Amino acid sequence: MIIAVTRRLPVVATELLEGAGLTVRMHDADDPPSREALLSLVDGADGLICLLSDRVDEALLDAAGPGLRVAANYAVGLDNVDLEACRARGVAVAHTPGVLTDATADLAWALLLAVARRVREGDSLVRSGGWSGWSPLQLLGASLAGRTFGVVGLGRIGAAAAQRARGFGMDVVYTGRSRREREEVRLEARFVPLGELLEVSDVVSLHCPSTPETRHLIDAEALGRMRSSAILVNTARGDVVDEAALVDALREGQIGGAGLDVFEREPVVHEGLVGLENVVLAPHLGSATVETRGAMARMVAEAVIAVLEGGTVEHLAVPPGGGA
Ligand code: GLV
Ligand code: GLV
Repeated sequence: MIIAVTRRLPVVATELLEGAGLTVRMHDADDPPSREALLSLVDGADGLICLLSDRVDEALLDAAGPGLRVAANYAVGLDNVDLEACRARGVAVAHTPGVLTDATADLAWALLLAVARRVREGDSLVRSGGWSGWSPLQLLGASLAGRTFGVVGLGRIGAAAAQRARGFGMDVVYTGRSRREREEVRLEARFVPLGELLEVSDVVSLHCPSTPETRHLIDAEALGRMRSSAILVNTARGDVVDEAALVDALREGQIGGAGLDVFEREPVVHEGLVGLENVVLAPHLGSATVETRGAMARMVAEAVIAVLEGGTVEHLAVPPGGGA
């Protein structure tokens, strides 16, 4: 049986797949395949390991053919996968929740601290040779202790980011589709509507999936409700934020700053963002630790093997046979 793998992954994935007697057909590169190359890569595959940059839609499923039984997305987000199309064709869908929770929450905090304490500007100053020494009024940032951390989407990652906020002495408010009562108690978090969260938070950190409902959730109006000193952090998906509206809000001082790991049209970044001092930009690094990427590789390989061998798999977004 053939497993199409759309990018070079940590080697454990290939070791596990080949160890189970499967043939790996890999796009053996760090850059994405063209759409044409992707469609020919999946032709006749029994299993697929794909990335958030691969669109898994009707056309791809057609190209794969009727033998395809499982697609494992090397990500927790599934917005690149047409789940209903997979279900209709009996293709199981796996993903990688859990193993990237701490890594992504850490990155949200790395961006937040970098913006709040102006680390990027400080780094540039030191490297430029222009630093003339310690000075009482140089690059003053914002304190976080005692301030309010607003979480949009208190799932695994949102809760992990909020737990860090508690560690930094911040109060936590959150919003989302549903209340998370156990987490509320654990984190002493208060559930509020989005509008109130935007108004009371000193930090707004996004942890919701990308869905039709969350697209441009943070638009001009939402940004207008935020505090003029507030910092927006996005480690979720780029299209949750209206990037053009964000550029305007940052330029006009409607909000204080932003830490962004994700963008609306990756890898293209709105050029307005690049010119701004009060933003820190990362190239979608949320899960990018050695440990986490290895765990994700293991998880997708094990999911593919289990589905093909008829074993059980945790975290399937679509069960084997489409659940029929
Ligand atoms: C990365 O963005 C993921 O969804 O895992
Ligand atoms: C990640 O693991 C999430 O579900 O938030």
